[in-house]
Amino acid sequence: MGLVVERMSDRPRPDEQMERLFADGWPAFITADQEVKRHIGSVRALFADLELVLIDSENVIVAAGWAVPLRWNGEPAGLPGGYTDSLARAVDGYRRGERPDTLVIAAAQVHPDQRGRGIAAELLTALCGLAEARGWARVIAPVRPTLKARYPLTPIEEFAAWTRADGAPMDPWIRTHWRLGARVIAVAPSSQTMTGTVAEWEAWSDMVFPASGDYVIPNGLATLHIDVDADERIYVEPNVWLRHI
Ligand SMILES: CC(C)(COP(=O)(O)OP(=O)(O)OC[C@H]1O[C@@H](n2cnc3c(N)ncnc32)[C@H](O)[C@@H]1OP(=O)(O)O)[C@@H](O)C(=O)NCCC(=O)NCCS
Repeated sequence: MGLVVERMSDRPRPDEQMERLFADGWPAFITADQEVKRHIGSVRALFADLELVLIDSENVIVAAGWAVPLRWNGEPAGLPGGYTDSLARAVDGYRRGERPDTLVIAAAQVHPDQRGRGIAAELLTALCGLAEARGWARVIAPVRPTLKARYPLTPIEEFAAWTRADGAPMDPWIRTHWRLGARVIAVAPSSQTMTGTVAEWEAWSDMVFPASGDYVIPNGLATLHIDVDADERIYVEPNVWLRHI
């Protein structure tokens, strides 16, 4: 399709393009991670050069993705706890003047009308190129497996190991990374923690929770535990660590 890679910050992006791009694919509760709220402003300001878009011949954004830099010793035990901890470690490392050696691909988004055409692979390749250009040795990603929402009761380590008959990972988003050479190196059982009141969870899920218990929620990778007597309900989202290089 002849897509061009740009930094998101290279020029103003029309609001309606951004709205269309992000119109679909994320549950409402994804923004309820308080730790992410604490760090996201710094992340966007400090690491704007690690935020890329792919644009078509009419200058329309068809995909966007961003990453953060940090130091990692290459050992699974030294990995961040997941997505949220990657942002915290990147900001903290930057403030301490640490030299990064690892790129963490934090998020990727393909325009809802353009999915299933391999554009995500182009985006991931462009993001991996950011590490190469800076001489960083490693590229990792805490991946949110898109099919996991259909299996919210399955432990993440079990899900991450599921393969198709041809040996490829069963999850389509893990598979896209895998085709580019990435491999599962660990799971992140507590990648993100979302908190909200029962009323907020009811609004985000479009469900009612009349009693205490565990509930399957739309697009939830794990179940939501409701305790009707507690002030705050906590949902912990698992991810899968993939390593590209
Ligand atoms: C995840 C995402 C980036 C993948 O982008 P993409 O360009 O569709 O990726 P690919 O073209 O490589 O497709 C990946 C696989 O998903 C499948 N797929 C893509 N869209 C699909 C859809 N709407 N329904 C079913 N399967 C779909 C493809 O067939 C492909 O499977 P294959 O290996 O059998 O070919 C995109 O779906 C998206 O933006 N989702 C919303 C945001 C998100 O979940 N991001 C990931 C977490 S950071």
